[in-house]
Amino acid sequence: MTGMGIEFAERTRRIPVYPVAAGYDLGDDVAMLASNEAPFGPSPEVLAAVSRAVAGANRYPDPSYSNLRRALAERHDIPASRIALGNGSADILIAAGEALLEPGAELVYAWPSFSVYEHLPAASGARAIRVPLDADMCHDLDAMAAEVTVSTRLVLICNPNNPTSTALELDGVRALLQRVPRHVCVILDEAYCEFSLTAGDPQASVELLRHWPNLVILRTFSKVYGLAGLRVGYGLCGSEEFRTAVEQVRQPFYVNAAAQAAAVEALRHQDEVERRVAATVAARIGMVDAVRSFGLWVAQSDANFIWLHLDDAVDGWTARQERAFDDCDTALAAFERDVIDGLRERGVLVRAGAALGRAGAMRVTVGTEAECERFTAALRDLIAA
Ligand SMILES: Cc1ncc(COP(=O)(O)O)c(C=O)c1O
Repeated sequence: MTGMGIEFAERTRRIPVYPVAAGYDLGDDVAMLASNEAPFGPSPEVLAAVSRAVAGANRYPDPSYSNLRRALAERHDIPASRIALGNGSADILIAAGEALLEPGAELVYAWPSFSVYEHLPAASGARAIRVPLDADMCHDLDAMAAEVTVSTRLVLICNPNNPTSTALELDGVRALLQRVPRHVCVILDEAYCEFSLTAGDPQASVELLRHWPNLVILRTFSKVYGLAGLRVGYGLCGSEEFRTAVEQVRQPFYVNAAAQAAAVEALRHQDEVERRVAATVAARIGMVDAVRSFGLWVAQSDANFIWLHLDDAVDGWTARQERAFDDCDTALAAFERDVIDGLRERGVLVRAGAALGRAGAMRVTVGTEAECERFTAALRDLIAA
């Protein structure tokens, strides 16, 4: 029959399309501040390890990931059998959804939070309970704990939270864990933990695994380790069962050989991690100060990105427009689009808040010092224009 497309499963229609960053076609002279990557390339040692691995690419990668598991086990002092791996930590999140959720089940997460969380209820038919962030754009852990019911299978906590950059102290997380029954999986997504002064030492949360077998701490090599293009994430698990379940629902070779080798080598260079964190935190302070000096509200950032609200500049912008707006929300959304477009014209790519659950906001990655200055100069022009 003509005019009929392929008939897909109902769930495929429900799954939101991941809001990918644009601008990969804009050439080199662009400040890529839209995806929270590291501005630093892999070290020569990591490049050498990758090229050794690629030389043996006729073989499948090690399906037991023994070197990487061993390196992570040593680093975090937990048994290798309790380390789940993935093609990025997003791969583990999606596998967790598949392993844990089904129609009738519920999962609880804050909103706005990491956009991939939305995939889990859509793909599984489980019910999402989205708990609004508080006025400071932080997780409201009390409200989240209050949403746990007999149907809850999964609670997701994003610390620091993407896209709002705010972090929770570990005591709050501990108190939530105390209120969640032991058969409910809690994923603590710590993709940005190295940058957090509030959350503190990245090893501190790992101690929680000794008390909560239902806890999974999710980490990634895509941020501070600068390996986003190779895709490696891992989950430190309170018990082995989570790891075996997420392995069951995936293909056997989910982390390629180059990525495994790069991650093992990158772990050996913690001095480099510390150097990157220091450079990022210094650039972040400058960026936040500059944006605040333009009269805009900026969330307390504990990550390698910042989150700002345009609300306090919308009246000035509206007064300069030659059109009228029906209401504040429409004006704010139009202002956001105008700023995002203006930044792009000036070679700065950032994430629009509208795509992340809050119109009139923006998420901006902390890049190199020059990139941050390029962003703040462009924003100043656009706010004052
Ligand atoms: C909070 C959070 N978790 C997980 C991820 C996934 O990262 P990856 O799949 O690259 O490990 C991201 C990426 O942006 C993130 O922001």
